[in-house]
Amino acid sequence: MRVASVRASAGGAVASGGRREFHVAPMRDYTDRHLRRFTRLLSREAVLWSEMEKPRAILKAADASSSSKLDRLLRRGSDEGYEVFQIGGNDPATVAEATRLVLPYGYDELNLNCGCPAVASGGGDYGASLMRDGGDDAARVVEAMVRQVTKHGGDAHTKISVKCRVGIAETLGDVLSKDASAEEVRERLAEPLASFLAKCADAGASSAVVHCRQAVMSGLSPSKNRGVPPLRPELVFELCSVNANASSKDHRVPSKVILNGGVSSFADAARIFRRCPNLAGAQAGRWPLLRPFDALHVDAFLAMTSSDELECLLESRTSASLASHRSAETERFEFPFDRRAAARAAAAAETYAIRSAAESRRDAGAGAAARPLALAIADLDDRLEASRASDHREREGRDDPDALAGALDGVLGVCGDLLGVDGGTDRAKRTRKALAKAVGKKVGGKQRGTRAEAAEAAGRVASGRCGGVG
Ligand SMILES: Cc1cc2nc3c(=O)[nH]c(=O)nc-3n(C[C@H](O)[C@H](O)[C@H](O)COP(=O)(O)O)c2cc1C
Repeated sequence: MRVASVRASAGGAVASGGRREFHVAPMRDYTDRHLRRFTRLLSREAVLWSEMEKPRAILKAADASSSSKLDRLLRRGSDEGYEVFQIGGNDPATVAEATRLVLPYGYDELNLNCGCPAVASGGGDYGASLMRDGGDDAARVVEAMVRQVTKHGGDAHTKISVKCRVGIAETLGDVLSKDASAEEVRERLAEPLASFLAKCADAGASSAVVHCRQAVMSGLSPSKNRGVPPLRPELVFELCSVNANASSKDHRVPSKVILNGGVSSFADAARIFRRCPNLAGAQAGRWPLLRPFDALHVDAFLAMTSSDELECLLESRTSASLASHRSAETERFEFPFDRRAAARAAAAAETYAIRSAAESRRDAGAGAAARPLALAIADLDDRLEASRASDHREREGRDDPDALAGALDGVLGVCGDLLGVDGGTDRAKRTRKALAKAVGKKVGGKQRGTRAEAAEAAGRVASGRCGGVG
């Protein structure tokens, strides 16, 4: 197969009609419909992803005697906004069957996971293992999904996409080091990646999210797989010019390419948008878990970065590094938590709790519905502690401790309502206890671990507990 040169060409038009996208990444055990519902109340424009589900789990839920199990698994977080449902599988027939079951739930896009190292199954049966043969397997699965959309999708508006890595390595020793020669990077990563995505595009994938690290298929835990292999954003930037450089004989990669991996602040996202005018958007995973209330500013950020203004807003520096250090760029894209943010945060939490209470009564149990509030409270706790620790001068233009304390009161109040905590003295304290119990030790511990990982990934000094629940 002939794929157009993967060498980057400078410049080019801003992708996707001028509006960039901001995606909240799929995260197992987190981005369930509850967290998506909560996040949607903070941002209208963020693209929200489900957790990955395996076809077997979907088919099993469909076999259950009542339809409520399938509903719980597949329901959207919100009727509004763009949501993506991710499936992880390698067998075209079962993925097709799962696709058929997901389609009636009205997702805007269905995604095939080609990026999870699947360490637990020896890197075997789904995710990044679909990159092993160069894309033929992935293309077959994509084709099967597209066929289902055509057959059952009504007006066939549901898009099919893939999420992959820049490449795979069987062991940590096989990972291409950051100082590998340009030739080696092109041969081992850039060309196979473009070829993989061209096959997916030929099969009908209209967009690709690329996590810009290699996946290590064995001997490295999932969390280390998100930190140890080096970030290679330049490979994703190069993909964005493949189609522009393609002749009529060349195969094309999906027209929409989104970068994932290491985006930990609005400044990071702005820098990569500036580096690559044709990049359709950025996807972030751990950052939104660490600071869910940053989603309050996603719509404003996208408005700022979607036009030629970006060039004026940023310094004319072209650092390839995504590492964030304090600079004019960073400050430009910091959105302090002020009284307005506090009012919006508390209102979102209240709406969320009201809607979730009705659903919890139906589905029995407020535990899962309480989880997003646990993340929200941990975010406010951390910000408040950091803000109180900084002196008055440092705080100028930064988070306002009074606004944070007000928001924390509000969120704890509605959380208490959701969990049925009585009024009276020490209600906030009793709410934290009830929240810890509703969320459960296992989930609370996992939340703490993931938030600590996120803080480390962002290079932040984890202020405060970095924990899930009080
Ligand atoms: C707790 C957790 C669960 C994840 N689950 C999934 C998943 O279900 N599907 C997927 O494609 N990626 C999953 N990922 C990977 C993220 O989508 C993302 O690719 C990765 O975290 C890198 O992005 P980041 O640096 O912005 O966090 C998960 C990541 C985390 C932290």
